[in-house]
Amino acid sequence: MTEELRGRDLLDSPAMNKGTAFSLDERVSLGLEGFLPPSVETIDLQHRRVLQQLGQKPTDLERYIYLIQLLDSNETLFYHVVMSNPAYFLPILYDPTVGEACLKFNHIYRRPRGMYISMRDKGKVRQVLSNWPQKDVRVICATTGGRILGLGDLGANGMGIPIGKLQLYTACAGVPPQGLLPALIDFGTNNRELLNDPLYLGLRQTRPDWDVLDPFVDEFVQSVQEQFPLCCIHFEDWRGVDAFHYLERYRDKVSCFNDDIQGTGSVTVVGLHNAMRISGQNLKDQRVLFLGAGSAGIGIAGMVASAMKLEGLSDSQARDRVWLFDINGLLESTRKDLLPEQKPYAHVHDPSHSLVESINSIGPTILIGVSTVGGAFNQAVIEAMSRNAERPIIFALSNPTEKAECTPEEAYKWSSGKALYAAGVQFPPVQYGGKTFLPGQANNFYIYPAVGFAIYATSAKRVTDEMFIEAAKATADQMTDEQLKMGMLFPAQSNVLETEVRTAISVAALVFDRNLARVDRPMDVASWMRAMIYKPQYGSQVRS
Ligand code: NAI
Repeated sequence: MTEELRGRDLLDSPAMNKGTAFSLDERVSLGLEGFLPPSVETIDLQHRRVLQQLGQKPTDLERYIYLIQLLDSNETLFYHVVMSNPAYFLPILYDPTVGEACLKFNHIYRRPRGMYISMRDKGKVRQVLSNWPQKDVRVICATTGGRILGLGDLGANGMGIPIGKLQLYTACAGVPPQGLLPALIDFGTNNRELLNDPLYLGLRQTRPDWDVLDPFVDEFVQSVQEQFPLCCIHFEDWRGVDAFHYLERYRDKVSCFNDDIQGTGSVTVVGLHNAMRISGQNLKDQRVLFLGAGSAGIGIAGMVASAMKLEGLSDSQARDRVWLFDINGLLESTRKDLLPEQKPYAHVHDPSHSLVESINSIGPTILIGVSTVGGAFNQAVIEAMSRNAERPIIFALSNPTEKAECTPEEAYKWSSGKALYAAGVQFPPVQYGGKTFLPGQANNFYIYPAVGFAIYATSAKRVTDEMFIEAAKATADQMTDEQLKMGMLFPAQSNVLETEVRTAISVAALVFDRNLARVDRPMDVASWMRAMIYKPQYGSQVRS
């Protein structure tokens, strides 16, 4: 039990360690005398030292490594630092630095975090999960490393993603970190370079087919239910086909969601809703074209169609306004290579392998890039979009930075300053035509931590699309007219904790309304949730 830790063991426990902030009384009662320099410091002073040391690191990757080491030694101080300035730390702990960290994961690896569950554990996954010291796990973020950002199959190197994602539950929405478990579900990798790398840390096999995977993933999901009954499984960065397959397999049976599908859809609806407020139009009157029809493209398409239906369109009217274009061209009714999830968007149209041609014939007013192809929105593409709409909406969402389908400069320049632009990463402000443009960051971190907080608080037994639509609406509604006037499509990152807590409260209220909670509804949902918010402060550990 962590409460009984003493001496060196206590200093080695990141959740309990206070380092130089242990008081003199604590040092005596906890067997710490001799292990610490004499000075007793406050957390603010420790924070100052961390910032000083961070300032000496030459790159974001070095800062990332330093912060992970801090997390491994003192969790409270880590969150004290990160939560003090989320706008600064998000790009270091998550996009885009985490992409580089995953590419190099097996080389920068220092010590384990989270759990590794590989196909070698078949038949004993429950037993493996029972090794985890925390018994009340509430969210497992599980990746297979199958499709990491836009970087492809990174196998066990993908572990950096669930680690980073869960840090944002706490940093962005105040979810207490103790009940969060990052997990790498290792099926192997099809990445030859990694398989041939002597320092690769994962299972050295290629990925098997679903007939082999299904029983193993079933065992994992079942074991989680048995070992951690209130736990939600957050699926993250699985291969596109696996992402759909497993979400459909479990979404109506257990508490789970896929952030690449549902979270991405939700955050994009936030940006579109605000773009409509700026242009004074309705989403139901727009036509949307996607470049990329994978888990993100199909996830967003579904959410956009749902949002259009809320504005009065029928199911088929909404779907008719949504088109997708993938590596094999426009999705249209004669295509024979489409997944079941893609077919609803394959409308009657001649085959086309040219994006510009498709833009000209379909007339989209919104273009969304989720293709992993950096630079795919070239001048001809943006100019074609600009002929269709007074304020063309251009979202270049592929990550990391170099995969963005176009930069904000390009979007503003080629649309003569008319584009309403967002990317998956944060680009700096752009000067064009004597005006300052603030490119938005359409990143899931605005949504999944808030939804996660609602699930954590209510112990929701299912996670529905309606919860993600509610999150989008609650997030978008917090934007002020002044922010929209400045061209902002997403809330300010400096205030992300308050924004997400408000969103989480709306989602939790919906969970209670739909009878999906496994706890009783409190009189006042908002103050009940605010009392749960994690605060990165030390408590007294003096023992008699
Ligand atoms: P995926 O691998 O499931 O799908 C990629 C899609 O792009 C496929 O439909 C593929 O056919 C298409 N594609 C590939 N090359 C193409 C080409 N040359 N021309 C046209 N289409 C092409 O990947 P997923 O999960 O859909 O993610 C895609 C991208 O979106 C990634 O870069 C990911 O980082 C990003 N993303 C961004 C998020 C955000 O919050 N901004 C959230 C989720 C994903």
